[in-house]
Amino acid sequence: MKDEDKEKILQILDRVNDPEIGISIVKLGMVGKIEETDGIVGIEIKLTVPGCPLIKTLESQVISVLANAGYKARIDFSYMSKEELERAKKFITSQRSSIPLTIARYTKRDTKKDISRIIAVYSAKGGVGKSTVVSLLALVAQGLGYKVGIMDCDISGPSIKSLFGIDDFASAHQDRSIEPYEKDGIKMIGLDLLSDARVVVWRGPLVSGAIKQMYDDTIWGKLDLLLLDLPPGTSDAPITVFQSIPTDGIVIVTTPQDLSFITGTKTLFMAEELKVPVLGVIENMSFFICPHCGKETPIGKGGRDYSVKVLARLPFINEFQLKIDEKIISELKPVIEKIMG
Ligand SMILES: Nc1ncnc2c1ncn2[C@@H]1O[C@H](COP(=O)(O)OP(=O)(O)OP(=O)(O)O)[C@@H](O)[C@H]1O
Ligand SMILES: [Mg+2]
Repeated sequence: MKDEDKEKILQILDRVNDPEIGISIVKLGMVGKIEETDGIVGIEIKLTVPGCPLIKTLESQVISVLANAGYKARIDFSYMSKEELERAKKFITSQRSSIPLTIARYTKRDTKKDISRIIAVYSAKGGVGKSTVVSLLALVAQGLGYKVGIMDCDISGPSIKSLFGIDDFASAHQDRSIEPYEKDGIKMIGLDLLSDARVVVWRGPLVSGAIKQMYDDTIWGKLDLLLLDLPPGTSDAPITVFQSIPTDGIVIVTTPQDLSFITGTKTLFMAEELKVPVLGVIENMSFFICPHCGKETPIGKGGRDYSVKVLARLPFINEFQLKIDEKIISELKPVIEKIMG
């Protein structure tokens, strides 16, 4: 194998953190020989301790990042020599200041959450843009200087990970706590950000259990705003979110084409019962901006009369990409101010 290919593989593996230590396996010196035979890349991973309990997690993460880059890989585990272990320890100590508490987390669980606002984003119908709106709200809030987190509560079809273009995993600690994945300064967690092992454990009979566990087990740290991306309102899952997570308010997403009624759905009855206030509705794909003259044209029945306050109207964006522009900021900034105010 050519040196430049090895270098490329090392760059990919640099994104994988040791699940216990939380530092790149490349930087820790855990990656040994890299050889290719019959189209399969054999990678030697040197473990720091014998009988590492998270060996499967590590293996699936390594195979997955390489598969995403088009490599078929096989992992051969070995152990570090005394000298190598000493070097790794020295490196961990030198990194302590940039990864505070990493070691302490083994024993001290972050059970008390330090989150100022928890807002659930809901729609009665699927595909109207909940996940998109969650991501845009997060980016706008982050731009305003707030510390933001996103929890993807869609157990069967999570989408935040792909919206943010992540091909990596969050890291888990030995005590089951999870380090949220951080992208663009936003902390996020979802079922597809967790390693296979945990997903299997959580795919139990109760979705509610998985949602609660994901919230409880994540080390959110101090957050100003946690946005919950709910699955569409036809299942019981949105209700379980309100029952298991202390939600401060609900933002509804709809489109002018969405004929489902906002009021009268089971979820909203439950929200009323549990005294979770509905802040209002964001109408997504509401109008189209002419690329030539900048004129805004309503799509469908624009200006619909909703029984709740309209917080914002977002344009239909041709070839949608997750990024914020002046229009989106001017619509969503007041929403964030209302949430945080
Ligand atoms: N303002 C917009 N302009 C253009 N396309 C959009 C816009 N908002 C969302 N989309 C597109 O619509 C599709 C559905 O969006 P999204 O996944 O956010 O909806 P959702 O309500 O979260 O869906 P689900 O109910 O499946 O969770 C995506 O392909 C997304 O890129
Ligand atoms: Mg979604």
